[in-house]
Amino acid sequence: MGATSGVTVAVIGAGYVGLTTAACLSSLGHHVVCADVDQEKVDALRRGEATIREPGICELVVDGLASGRLEFVLGASAAAAGADIVILCVPTPMGATGAADLTALESVVTEVRDLLPHGCVVVNKSTVPVGTAAHVSALIDRADVAVVSNPEFLREGFAVHDFLNPDRIVVGSADRDPVPARRVAALYEHLDTAVLVTDSSSAELIKYASNCYLATRLSFVNTVAELCEYLDASIDDVTAGMGYDDRIGKAFLRPGPGWGGSCLPKDTFALLRTAESAGSDFALLRAAIDTNVKQQELVVAKVRKAAGGDLAGVRIGLLGLTFKAGTDDLRDSPSLAIAARLAAEGAELSGYDPSVHAPVPGVTDDVRIAGTAYHAAKGAAALVLLTEWPEFRDLDWGRIADRLHGRAVIDTRNLLDPLTVARTGLSYQGIGRPGSTRAPAVAMVAQAG
Ligand code: UDX
Ligand code: UDX
Repeated sequence: MGATSGVTVAVIGAGYVGLTTAACLSSLGHHVVCADVDQEKVDALRRGEATIREPGICELVVDGLASGRLEFVLGASAAAAGADIVILCVPTPMGATGAADLTALESVVTEVRDLLPHGCVVVNKSTVPVGTAAHVSALIDRADVAVVSNPEFLREGFAVHDFLNPDRIVVGSADRDPVPARRVAALYEHLDTAVLVTDSSSAELIKYASNCYLATRLSFVNTVAELCEYLDASIDDVTAGMGYDDRIGKAFLRPGPGWGGSCLPKDTFALLRTAESAGSDFALLRAAIDTNVKQQELVVAKVRKAAGGDLAGVRIGLLGLTFKAGTDDLRDSPSLAIAARLAAEGAELSGYDPSVHAPVPGVTDDVRIAGTAYHAAKGAAALVLLTEWPEFRDLDWGRIADRLHGRAVIDTRNLLDPLTVARTGLSYQGIGRPGSTRAPAVAMVAQAG
């Protein structure tokens, strides 16, 4: 990118969303001041060290610092004071009732409201309940400051890619006021994508509806996978056949141990609470959440059965602890939820994850962290693959078979080639893959003409 845009952007919060936003906006030519309350994080970022695991982020941070277009400061006030646009990227975790907890957002807004320059636009990028833009606007209480909702759609592990290659940009302003909306949309003018300008409530709901749709879709797929086991059908073939329909599409159809991460679980609960408060019964969403819990129970039942019906004192090996591959994020990981259920039944767990090198107190307490997949397998009655790290495909399954005490390999991501595992004398089970070792999983023939 060439010359700077002349716009100064403050990004508040340097987590997954904030740091990605700050680094990418500086790469698009804007001057960005990124603030965080964590002194160590700010110091590391100033040294050009990426504090999150995201492909491409380190290069962007280093380039941004070198160009002078990216700065890191401690505390929101230092960043907000000189900004044309202030983007809020602080956490909005799930509160005790399932609704989003806005404490961090409110405290930042209260801290900066009197410092905001005249004509500044405050942008909400954090996922917030419908009505929060209006709430923030009331907290700021200044006629010269507009509040705009601009939700993020960044997948962890692809955050930089998703930011720079978005499917759409959504900008919502009070009464669809085009002036602040256009100023925010202009931040992305170098990106070739659709821009939807709407009101704040619709923008906020677009974010929730998107993530809740994705979660519901996965619960649907996981249920179809369960049905495949009863009906002797193959989920690999069923989802492949569904995905050819353009109206359905191929993405987000992989069955698994249940969906997790920092967004889908909290966003589904939050929208359910929002619907309840609005007097609407979102039964479908509740079913999607319940199905996700059931999916974890189904995995535990498979492990229990493989262990002979009782998990007390039984050693189980786990492959993968993060909520998906390509991240070191353990927040709301289905792997850890399943580990907790297994541990509650008395299983002794040894787990390996390529991105988890040491125990994380309070998070991985149920699992002894192993240095390799082979160590995790040692002496285990069953080996359970929970996260789809591609490298698990390339394990030496003969070596795993030698280490395991029992024979069961339970692949909750349908990652492994069933025949490769079965050839070593192990007993392979996937999700919705009955009889998968009897025949190739998917045989597809392209039709001529
Ligand atoms: C957060 C929200 O949780 C999510 O709902 C939203 O969509 C985007 O922002 P994420 O970036 O993944 O998601 O959060 P996290 O990685 O925890 O980073 C938040 C950062 O904000 C941390 O670095 C934290 O130190 C910082 N922070 C928190 C502040 O700077 N000020 C605060 O008051 C609180
Ligand atoms: C999600 C949204 O996709 C993204 O737009 C943003 O709003 C943040 O939240 P992320 O949390 O990074 O992104 O994870 P995502 O890739 O969406 O996966 C969520 C969960 O679904 C993971 O546990 C993943 O393993 C699971 N998943 C995903 C499946 O089980 N099967 C699939 O086919 C896809």
